[in-house]
Amino acid sequence: MKEQLTPKQIVAELDKYIIGQENAKKMVAIALRNRWRRQAVADDIRQEIMPNNIILIGPTGVGKTEIARRLANLAGAPFIKVEASKFTEVGYVGRDVESMIRDLVELSVQMVRKEKTETVKEKAADLAEERVLEILLPRPRIHKSRETQTSDDEAEEKYQRTLAKLREQLRNGYLDSRSIELEVPSNRFPVVEIFSPQGMEELGVNFQEMFSGMMPKKKKVRKVTVDEAKKILEQEEAAKLIDMDEVIAEAMERVEDSGIVFIDEIDKIADASGSGQGPDVSREGVQRDILPIVEGSSVNTKYGMVKTDHVLFIAAGAFHATKPSDLIPELQGRFPIRVELDSLTAGDFERILKEPKNALTKQYSALLETENVTVTFDDAAIKEVSRMAAQINESAENIGARRLQTLMTSLLEEVMFDLPNGKMKRIRITKTKVQNTLKGIIEDEDLRKYIL
Ligand SMILES: Nc1ncnc2c1ncn2[C@@H]1O[C@H](COP(=O)(O)OP(=O)(O)OP(=O)(O)O)[C@@H](O)[C@H]1O
Ligand SMILES: [Mg+2]
Repeated sequence: MKEQLTPKQIVAELDKYIIGQENAKKMVAIALRNRWRRQAVADDIRQEIMPNNIILIGPTGVGKTEIARRLANLAGAPFIKVEASKFTEVGYVGRDVESMIRDLVELSVQMVRKEKTETVKEKAADLAEERVLEILLPRPRIHKSRETQTSDDEAEEKYQRTLAKLREQLRNGYLDSRSIELEVPSNRFPVVEIFSPQGMEELGVNFQEMFSGMMPKKKKVRKVTVDEAKKILEQEEAAKLIDMDEVIAEAMERVEDSGIVFIDEIDKIADASGSGQGPDVSREGVQRDILPIVEGSSVNTKYGMVKTDHVLFIAAGAFHATKPSDLIPELQGRFPIRVELDSLTAGDFERILKEPKNALTKQYSALLETENVTVTFDDAAIKEVSRMAAQINESAENIGARRLQTLMTSLLEEVMFDLPNGKMKRIRITKTKVQNTLKGIIEDEDLRKYIL
């Protein structure tokens, strides 16, 4: 198994993107590490250790989804994020909640396949090289008759010499841009895409594969550069070297032992009326559909049955109109850990504008760099934007850090429109500039409503 991050390391990684929310970061870090810890304990007790599913609660725009997104890169395990609300959309009702597990399995298969490809990479590259050489310099026909024996030996020797030279040229990349003809399987399915009817997927029937298997495998000749050919053949050879059954078995195991499902917007399927009537009926329905998956059940996928007992579920929701207690009790019980995220302050905004790897100021710098313009933001300017964001959040709707985006967009609109203009090479955003640009909008209530 891959080297696993310690809880502290996980938090440190999350710190690169998410400001504050220490508690939430800590809890998800522990949960993640516990997956690995569980793997390491003895068999009999391991089965007893259930994941501690988490529910993240906090106002809009404070980092819930952001934590999930960044966690995905760290998990080192199959990780999928789904929006609970999507299951309440027309056409989804009562169906396909299990698709989250199927998607997770698919993801896991890709992940394992990629890893395995990496391990056979060198061998595949060697084989691909031989195949390219074969195309560049086909082996001369060997005659078996006695009279030509000597000339054949000569021919063979000459062929080997040329081959060696060619190989060296190929390795040095001298032939990369030369074009050759390569036979590639044309796996394009000729007819329109097939929409598998509901239920078929569960039976493990894949129409696409079924039909394309029935059609004669067509090959077509494509003109490609040597460089491209190397890459195409490398993939082909790698695929041959990998045992897909093994990949699938390992992928399934990973999902069962360390899979993580992040259910975002779970508040959207809570039912505040508690009546189970009207449009909310479908919400409760979705909760009931999700319940067995979270509780642990077997889900049919095209690769076989997958048990969800030890899959970790992390849910998140703003719970504006609803409360966690509006979820059906059984589901609540399956999320024993509740973490509240904090509202963000002007101080947090300042850091959010500057520190994260994807901070807005960094994004704008990068954008303007493409126009050969260097933009700098005075600390006082950033402070002013943050103060304004906090103020508007308080007096109007609180949309958390998203407010920064609207403010920054307005602040830089003129600059973005003006460039490139030849003369301007440096732009400095000062506090005065912030005030002059944004004050008018903030003080005019109508403008504010529409713009910010
Ligand atoms: N604590 C934070 N640190 C850094 N950036 C943040 C933070 N909170 C929010 N952001 C920024 O604001 C954006 C919106 O945050 P996010 O999508 O995480 O909100 P959310 O909590 O999921 O809200 P919602 O309940 O509306 O879904 C993010 O893309 C991120 O850029
Ligand atoms: Mg969100």
